[in-house]
Amino acid sequence: MIVCVCNNVNVEKVKASIDAGADTLEAIRETTGAAACCGKCQFKVNRVLQQHAPQLDDQNGYLVAQTVNASH
Ligand code: FES
Repeated sequence: MIVCVCNNVNVEKVKASIDAGADTLEAIRETTGAAACCGKCQFKVNRVLQQHAPQLDDQNGYLVAQTVNASH
């Protein structure tokens, strides 16, 4: 599925960029060209980023668990 029409970037390319370490919209823009033209696709790129970066959620969950344990 095409995410960015302007630069013909599909969702697989965005996911590959995230897998390679891109963790912000700016990083994905630099590596794929998505959202580098009209910007209308930014919300789609962000959605792919949020859905395809489970390690960020895991890390936050770990930090939350640590904070809870430290308070006891
Ligand atoms: S659709 Fe992505 S920059 Fe225009």
